[in-house]
Amino acid sequence: MQTHEIIKRFREHFERNGHTVVPSASLILDDPTLLFVNAGMVQFKPYFLGEAPAPYKRATSVQKCVRTGDIDEVGKTARHLTFFQMAGNFSFGDYFKADAIRFAWELVTKSQDEGGYGFDPNRIWVTVYQNDDEAIELWQKLAGLPPERIQRRDGLDNYWDMGVPGPGGPCSEIYYDRGPEFGKDGGPIADEDRYMEIWNLVFMQDLRGEQSPKYGHPPIGVLPAKNIDTGMGVERVAILLQGVDNIYETDLVRAVINKAEELSGKRYGDNEVDDVRFRVIADHARSGIMIVSDGVSPGNEGRGYVLRRLLRRIVRSSRLLGITEPVLGTFAQVVRDEMGPSYPDLVTGFERTLSVVQAEENAFLTTLTAGSRIFETAAGEVRSAGGTVLPGDKAFQLHDTYGFPIDLTLEMASEQGLKVDEDGFRKLMAEQRARAKADAAARKTGHGDKTVYRELLELGATEFTGYQELDTEATVRGLIREGQRVRSAGEGEIVEVVLDRTSLYAESGGQDSDAGLIVADGVELEVVDVQKVARKLWVHQVRVRHGEVVEGQHVLAKVDPEWRVGARQGHSGTHVVHAALRQVLGPKALQSGSYNKPGYLRLDFAWQGGLSPETRSEIEEVSNLAVRKDLPVKVMYGTIEDAQRLGAIALFGETYDETVRMVEIGGPWSLELCGGTHVEHSSQIGPITLIGESSVGSGVRRVEAYVGMEAFQYLAQERALVQNLAGMLKVPDAEVPARVEALVERLRVAEKELDKLRGAQLLSSAGTLADAAEDLGGTFLVAAAPAGVSGNDLRTLAVDVRGKLGDKPGVVALFSAADDKVSFVVATTAAGRDKGLAAGKLVPVFGPAIGGRGGGKPDLAQGGGTQPGGIPDAIAALRTEIQK
Ligand code: SER
Repeated sequence: MQTHEIIKRFREHFERNGHTVVPSASLILDDPTLLFVNAGMVQFKPYFLGEAPAPYKRATSVQKCVRTGDIDEVGKTARHLTFFQMAGNFSFGDYFKADAIRFAWELVTKSQDEGGYGFDPNRIWVTVYQNDDEAIELWQKLAGLPPERIQRRDGLDNYWDMGVPGPGGPCSEIYYDRGPEFGKDGGPIADEDRYMEIWNLVFMQDLRGEQSPKYGHPPIGVLPAKNIDTGMGVERVAILLQGVDNIYETDLVRAVINKAEELSGKRYGDNEVDDVRFRVIADHARSGIMIVSDGVSPGNEGRGYVLRRLLRRIVRSSRLLGITEPVLGTFAQVVRDEMGPSYPDLVTGFERTLSVVQAEENAFLTTLTAGSRIFETAAGEVRSAGGTVLPGDKAFQLHDTYGFPIDLTLEMASEQGLKVDEDGFRKLMAEQRARAKADAAARKTGHGDKTVYRELLELGATEFTGYQELDTEATVRGLIREGQRVRSAGEGEIVEVVLDRTSLYAESGGQDSDAGLIVADGVELEVVDVQKVARKLWVHQVRVRHGEVVEGQHVLAKVDPEWRVGARQGHSGTHVVHAALRQVLGPKALQSGSYNKPGYLRLDFAWQGGLSPETRSEIEEVSNLAVRKDLPVKVMYGTIEDAQRLGAIALFGETYDETVRMVEIGGPWSLELCGGTHVEHSSQIGPITLIGESSVGSGVRRVEAYVGMEAFQYLAQERALVQNLAGMLKVPDAEVPARVEALVERLRVAEKELDKLRGAQLLSSAGTLADAAEDLGGTFLVAAAPAGVSGNDLRTLAVDVRGKLGDKPGVVALFSAADDKVSFVVATTAAGRDKGLAAGKLVPVFGPAIGGRGGGKPDLAQGGGTQPGGIPDAIAALRTEIQK
């Protein structure tokens, strides 16, 4: 009997018996105690507890259920699974034990021709809760079961509750004996493989507290009424009625395996290794697709994370079966076709399901493909070197860069007959953790640790709302402190905040990030910086001013409106200056980089040589004319081809998305690909004033400008400067240049006059010095340190004095001292030289006294020293030498 028929008969049986048919609830019910709905009764919980009046006294449903406790075991056995369907009948204070037993027995044992399941009554066994004599009697009376096929069990087996405080009650379970070939005699208490449980009848009457009656703790109360909750395992009945061994061979599950066989060219049942993969695919495809269909998207936490594991395990297992093409869409179709008749949502919402699973698969395959290539190369190298062990650093690289779990690498290696150096791998992992820790400690913000961002990115890109609004309601997706995810951050802390949406512009395209706040009740975060990670994730660096921000919190992202006005002026101003540059210098003057923030802009462009002042003025004038013309600023979207056709300027080195954003100012005059924020009309930019032009490398020039209020303030300052000067010069502003020119001229004339005077003075002092020459036994010495004479003047003076000595044998030695330096000039007359006095030779005689050295020709020598205090000693040494 096909599964759908089993479901249909169940439904019809209970409908005939006065039950309202209730559709399966979503797997995601608003119950904080449950990750996924895991039993048929979950949607009826409020009725059992009396929290809400039941709209019907009797109900029946076939509920999709997911239990994810042992995902890792799925596939390894034919027993574990994450998805199943539970058919149930429910009574809310209506019928109780007797009817529950009667209804179940009828359906199970009625012949198939009469609409039942046709199980042989002689192979049915039941269990009851330890002292439930009433149930034992009823089974004998209503079903005619002999006492030896009714077994008592304790709470562990025969008390049912949700695992948390709530409704509960003793139960009675129905088993089918599959025969001695499946295990030993003795009923369910002896062997639960041979005696397969198919149906659990819960006599729901208790309110369980923190501790479960399963373990002997008494219930804390009774429910407002006595109820019935039953659950029949649809797949288990299918196993029995289809005569197959396990759930994987039942019709609906097998359909997925069939598809996997078709795609892989392998057969289920051929070998145990592949069978594990087939089973993983079959089970996870059902749970994964059903979960997506109920609105969950893959993520890194909670349900999203479980879903991601399920989907990725399918992809991995498919790869290991040798399937190279994407599979999730295909398996999703199989699940839709098989399960759709029972779950219409699966069909109506299929488009979304398809796009969700395909996106997840693409994301995973990108890493898988890249990693597999690395793996193949590494494995090839190991083999050709005659080795058998894949080095730990390769496994580490695969893990670190390609997100390969180590068990995937192990599996791939073993397929090639290779081992993996797991110890080496673990050592590198440990090292990396230590490094990351040290790194995080050394860094104020954690842009280094990309995995954190990758993780957050998997929750989805940040939606940027800053083109439309300044204030945006958002949810905190994640908080990062020193490169690590944290749940919360308190006053004074500096953390990074990732939001699902934000109005704050992240630094890009030359435009600085927005200033602003992120606020919530009692919480205020000052936004210090905003950066985009991977072009999709907005990371706000903030300082917590007040309160505590927590992950998941609803917040308001607020752009500082003043800042944004300035930012728009700055960015539009940059486009205008760029267009003006190209108008004045020609199209070769292409921007190679830019930076702008409120009030300031900087633009680097290709150009050889400096700009003349006239050119600069012209660029400035063209820019300001464009402002005055109040040109409309238009934002357009299109493909990159559209942009090229329109002649938009795309900047070298930038990457663009499929849809590009173009900003046009005054038509084609200025059309650039740009994601920035702009004014609506060029007049809103305000004045633009160039403040400098310089070289920033070969062939690249930089212009800087102030815009808006800053331009005004800059000009106001300049004006104040001129007024200041005019005040000092006591002339009207306009006469400042003429007055300065006149002053400079007067200064020049005065300096010339001064030079003349100094020359005359030197000449007169030469006579005085010569007159004072010492006669040292027929040789004359002029040695002095004339005040106020230095440098070239010293030399000139020495030569003049020598001239004044005429044909007498003589030596002239002049010194000049300043701070800790001495300079000197020594000159000899021709007659002196005839007597053997050479200037150059005299230097070593007196030099040491002034700590100096020097040298020169016989007629003239000069040099310097470091001890001005030694001048008298130097002169004395000269005197002695001449007297020799
Ligand atoms: N709630 C019980 C179970 O899950 C019967 O439906 O087994």
